[in-house]
Amino acid sequence: MTDQVNPKDYPGKDVYAVIGNPIAHSKSPLIHEIFANQTNQAIHYGRIFSELNEFKKTTLEFFECGGKGLNVTIPFKLQAYELAQHKTLRAQSAKAANMLWVENGQWWCDNSDGEGLTRDLRRLLKERDASLSGISVLLLGAGGAAQGVIEPLIGAGVASISIANRTHEKAEALVQQFSELASKAKMTLKVMSLTALTDPQTHPASYDLIINATAAGLSDVSPISKDVLRAIVHPDTLAYDMVYGKETCFMQDAKALGILVVDGLGMLVEQAALAFETWRKLDLQKTPLDINGALAAVRASY
Ligand code: ATR
Repeated sequence: MTDQVNPKDYPGKDVYAVIGNPIAHSKSPLIHEIFANQTNQAIHYGRIFSELNEFKKTTLEFFECGGKGLNVTIPFKLQAYELAQHKTLRAQSAKAANMLWVENGQWWCDNSDGEGLTRDLRRLLKERDASLSGISVLLLGAGGAAQGVIEPLIGAGVASISIANRTHEKAEALVQQFSELASKAKMTLKVMSLTALTDPQTHPASYDLIINATAAGLSDVSPISKDVLRAIVHPDTLAYDMVYGKETCFMQDAKALGILVVDGLGMLVEQAALAFETWRKLDLQKTPLDINGALAAVRASY
């Protein structure tokens, strides 16, 4: 059985966990504990470390011992997606899963990351009397994290998404993947080369929202220079970095330029809320989760 969570140790409680490698830093147990307290749910939520080549074995053991659901994090989101027999539409769109559970003996997966981001963005924009509808978005990065947010952003009614990535071909592949959806939604989805970003011939004067979905921050660099960033923002541009738990160079540059910049902690809380809602089958119209309260508590825990 897994080292960290054996559902048999928690009789009378539904047991959930987050699985990843590494996993010790994960705030998911804290977030789910907060939601469980807010809604009086008797659950236990723990952490599971899995060796890189033992993901399937570890998850099987968890569910065989009565585990109810797993959140999946780096580097197992693709494996979780492939393991499940049933994949929700949003998991299919992201081609990755951050939720895995068993229902009537069948494996299900879902992906709440993208919707977690759009919920967080809606909350942030509402505070400024703005919305996602009709805005121009620059998406930096074309890996798994970027892929998972394109459909939810299109669904939220943004006017345009320009994707810029170090490896140009990966941005092109993403545009191709979502081009039909974009044209149905009558919005613009295009590739932007990093060098063209500061060329007034090829880019709009500025973007309303710039999302850093690259892993660059983890190596203490920004995908774009501060000068480039300066050239493509306006005073109300929102800069969003999906990374949390540290201030990235991208965030530092945006701050220095005086624009609003936020990390991905709100997205983390929102994707957890979506998983909690799915698994606990609660009527959240009647008892909505206190997202701001959860976010404040998680921030205070750093
Ligand atoms: P994730 O699932 O977190 O998105 P990934 O699929 O490995 O991880 O993608 C990482 C993304 O960060 C990619 O867009 C990558 O650019 P490349 O496609 O060119 O590899 C981007 N990235 C990582 N390090 C970067 C850096 N130092 N500068 C710019 N982009 C970087």
